[in-house]
Amino acid sequence: MAPKKLAAGNWKMNGLTASLAELDALAARDNGCDVLICPPATLITPAVAHAGEIAIGGQDCHAKDSGAHTGDISAAMLKDAGASHVILGHSERRADHGETDAQVSAKAVAAHQAGLVTVICVGETEAQRDAGETLDVIASQLAGSVPDCATAANTVIAYEPVWAIGTGRTPTNDQIAEAHALMRDTLSARFGDGADVGLLYGGSVKPGNAAEIFDIAHVNGALVGGASLKASDFGAIIDALAKA
Ligand code: PGA
Repeated sequence: MAPKKLAAGNWKMNGLTASLAELDALAARDNGCDVLICPPATLITPAVAHAGEIAIGGQDCHAKDSGAHTGDISAAMLKDAGASHVILGHSERRADHGETDAQVSAKAVAAHQAGLVTVICVGETEAQRDAGETLDVIASQLAGSVPDCATAANTVIAYEPVWAIGTGRTPTNDQIAEAHALMRDTLSARFGDGADVGLLYGGSVKPGNAAEIFDIAHVNGALVGGASLKASDFGAIIDALAKA
């Protein structure tokens, strides 16, 4: 089975009840590929009611099911709220909350046990790219963050160079191709069905560059931040993916 195309939107810490109108607009479209929106946790349950065929996900979860962890949210809670997916190991979590590969992997195990599909993020900083370490960083984040229980059915990997997130800068097509080929080879070598794991590119994907990015080998979709907040922009990206 070839990897399924997925257009994933990460609203980050953006979105109030009024933002559900953007979901209404997305749900009313003929999208032509799988679409996922990860709103802030406060909007997950109402988002499900507005989402139609669109999947709703969380942006993080704790590795434990329950307990004394003020402010955290468990995978079972996300599932109970109506989520089907969860983003894990986003570089903003790694940077702002010091998340390690081992923590991301433990969260992924918990998410899989709760029945969630994980979108596990990897990607180098600008300093790491300048030092020629990009492929080593991706390989070691994949090895450490993706648990042994990962399958093509429960896991999607997003390559998001940290320096491309929210900056308007993107890698060259060759740089994206090189990273995605490494991810495909690494996952195929480790997992029986690794060749079928969906691989997303993320970092300043916009309506204007989406088609070109979706033409690159082993790019099966995108994880989109800023341009996922408006249905008109995200809809154009979804259309580019559906046509790719
Ligand atoms: P961006 O964010 O599309 O705003 O660059 C991508 C992401 O962080 O997932």
